[in-house]
Amino acid sequence: MWRCPPGLLLLLLLAGQGALGDRRGRWRRELAPGLHLRGIRDAGGRYCQEQDMCCRGRADDCALPYLGATCYCDLFCNRTVSDCCPDFWDFCLGVPPPFPPIQGCMHGGRIYPVFGTYWDNCNRCTCQEKGQWECDQEPCLVDLDMINAINRGNYGWQAGNHSAFWGMTLDEGIRYRLGTTRPSSSVMNMNEIYMVLDPGQVLPTAFEASEKWPNLIHEPLDQGNCAGSWAFSTAAVASDRVSIHSLGHMTPVLSPQNLLSCDTHHQQGCRGGRLDGAWWFLRRRGVVSDNCYPFSGHERDEAGPAPPCMMHSRAMGRGKRQATARCPNSHVHANDIYQVTPAYRLGSNEQEIMKELMENGPVQALMEVHEDFFLYQGGIYSHTPVSLSRPERYRRHGTHSVKITGWGEETQPDGKTLKYWTVANSWGPSWGERGHFRIVRGANECDIESFVLGVWGRVGMEDMGHH
Ligand SMILES: *[C@@H]1O[C@H](CO)[C@@H](O)[C@H](O)[C@H]1NC(C)=O
Ligand SMILES: *[C@@H]1O[C@H](CO)[C@@H](O)[C@H](O)[C@H]1NC(C)=O
Repeated sequence: MWRCPPGLLLLLLLAGQGALGDRRGRWRRELAPGLHLRGIRDAGGRYCQEQDMCCRGRADDCALPYLGATCYCDLFCNRTVSDCCPDFWDFCLGVPPPFPPIQGCMHGGRIYPVFGTYWDNCNRCTCQEKGQWECDQEPCLVDLDMINAINRGNYGWQAGNHSAFWGMTLDEGIRYRLGTTRPSSSVMNMNEIYMVLDPGQVLPTAFEASEKWPNLIHEPLDQGNCAGSWAFSTAAVASDRVSIHSLGHMTPVLSPQNLLSCDTHHQQGCRGGRLDGAWWFLRRRGVVSDNCYPFSGHERDEAGPAPPCMMHSRAMGRGKRQATARCPNSHVHANDIYQVTPAYRLGSNEQEIMKELMENGPVQALMEVHEDFFLYQGGIYSHTPVSLSRPERYRRHGTHSVKITGWGEETQPDGKTLKYWTVANSWGPSWGERGHFRIVRGANECDIESFVLGVWGRVGMEDMGHH
């Protein structure tokens, strides 16, 4: 079979002349190594056929790019050291190639066997029998197109690749990095405490809990792939509040694991839980410190039973409790139980939240997390419309809870002033602004002002003395 479309005839004639005259071209081609010493690397690829190109004799222009090199569709390529395109024999000569094709696929300069795999971010690519890669098409948690769109879009914040999220799907982010169940409507309607602003009281334009209460505000936690933000945000707010209300006599980092493993009534540990249940447990049972009962971590696809509760306590009268078990961490002996008074809900009002924060310490807030929030690296967050034009499965959200620690204002390059909350997340200290983020204030952005809770550490006179 010898095909030569009429249009190519001229090209062939010219190429034939070039082959005689152009020494440089020959030189290069003669120096180049054969392509098929180790067999045909892209056995399923269409090259000569794609261009409908087959040339007689030697035609150095009868060439195509091939896996970073050049392959030829001219007869001259059919020599001992072959640089023929993979489909040259098949398409131009109508015979099977003289080399057995390698069964496999190329990636990054390597040959993978059939059914071999590699990961392209969150998607697995598998080598098919025809020598072609086939990749899953899941939306990834770290999405480069989204990062670029946010950073080009002047939204007031910057996006980037948080390395712990690389390789996770968006679905996994929603499933394993959040973990607060939206409260039932009866809890949503829980009595609000109204913080009445005194007439003439003016709140400062900026406030940070760690400046008012140095050493009493704890660093952001890391929930890993445990969907237990209900326990992490509760432990975080309770730690700060116990420290503030005991005037620094006690400064425990309270144990999220104690809540995850022991507050099991209507709670799902690392599969999610409710804030009202968490506060009920802290009030009636109390928890030990994180040193005493450390976080045991959780893997994405971890099946099987959750770890059993390793801390128990008994009533001591007047509602106080005492541990009856040793610390799960055998190096720690202090197994004091910390408790709080009933949590209270604040009005969904910027000024009330600010006043409570300034007077009594950090507050807990429910928040709706959208796909772009995972990419936050700094600035004043608000949910962007960059995914609006994409299919539904790229636009996901789930309920989370966090600790609000302060507020402020910042003038943007365009002259606009943005008001924000400063918030501690539980995605570790390397996410966002050292584990914190800032989010637009006064607009109920992502529902962050809709369900805000405060609590008092249960601090007796005896606690003030002996620590
Ligand atoms: C091309 O190479 C094959 C295998 O070496 C050989 O059998 C065949 O005769 C060659 N064809 C031409 C046209 O030179
Ligand atoms: C994102 O971070 C991960 C982990 O550090 C890294 O392996 C990956 O190459 C990064 N991706 C991009 C596109 O920068």
